[in-house]
Amino acid sequence: MTHKIIIDCDPGIDDAMALLYAIASEDIEILAVHTVAGNVNVDHTTNNAQGVLAFLNRHDIPICRGSNMPLVENPSFADDVHGVNGMNGYEFDSFAPLSEKTALESYVAILRNTSEKVTIAAVGPLTNVAILLKGYPELTDKIEKIIIMGGGLKGGNITTTGEFNFYVDPHAAHIVINSGLPIVLAGLDVTEVARLHKEDLEEIASHDARLGQFLLTINENSLSIYNSLGFGKTCTPNDVVPLVHLLHPEVFETQDLKIDVSYDSSETRGMTYLDSRIRMPQEPNVQMIMDVDLARFRAAFKATVIKYVQNSNNH
Ligand code: RIB
Ligand code: CA
Repeated sequence: MTHKIIIDCDPGIDDAMALLYAIASEDIEILAVHTVAGNVNVDHTTNNAQGVLAFLNRHDIPICRGSNMPLVENPSFADDVHGVNGMNGYEFDSFAPLSEKTALESYVAILRNTSEKVTIAAVGPLTNVAILLKGYPELTDKIEKIIIMGGGLKGGNITTTGEFNFYVDPHAAHIVINSGLPIVLAGLDVTEVARLHKEDLEEIASHDARLGQFLLTINENSLSIYNSLGFGKTCTPNDVVPLVHLLHPEVFETQDLKIDVSYDSSETRGMTYLDSRIRMPQEPNVQMIMDVDLARFRAAFKATVIKYVQNSNNH
């Protein structure tokens, strides 16, 4: 089965790796890449999406610029993690073209015209997706499911309770999580253990030096920091997780849960919570990814990317 997907992202180091995995996957057809402000502003996230797709020679995939502002909150960025340009300083030397359509215009055009349902892979703040769902409810029956990197029941990474994507736009996260659409949620609970090792990136480099060097460069800081923290030379490509789950659900453990997102401006902004105090049975609203078989996750990522570079280098 080929999954038709729209990737809504804020490249961002792990977004770039998610784009690589999706492009490399024979079972994914990317209909469009939509950008949103998140790790860096939307100029940089869009520029980086154009750079990644040019790097992978996929100038055919439409890239559509999305929102630069959360629905209500002021923007928050993660340039301390992803670098000022969002790619840990890596400079692309060419760029795929930018569509004339905005992300919203692209969502509406694709969903109005598609004969098959489309999966939305949202790996940045959910601003674009929330605007789509609120503005065009008649199009939701064309959405197969929304696979999301965001949230986490065990805690946050930008605050003690807020995961970055849900913290940046908590109102959008609340809207999407409560949309009633099928949602697969990869929170920090699983993405912080879904590690790739430096040797995995070096194995890819042994098949394609240019791609391997790109991956090692953008992950250089993570590999070093995690090593100093005792995790070995590893990185946590959060945004890759929902895409690997899309193709290899057997590698993960999931639970159907009723959760919500705190959207007040207090210290719990963006917190994902499971209100177990409610005694009445709750209709689940997400399939939450709770754990991963790490060896199989690493193998799935490497196998897909290495097969892709081998096929690319043979043509
Ligand atoms: O919390 C991790 C998420 O925030 C990832 O999507 C990363 O790219 C950042 O957007
Ligand atoms: Ca992201």
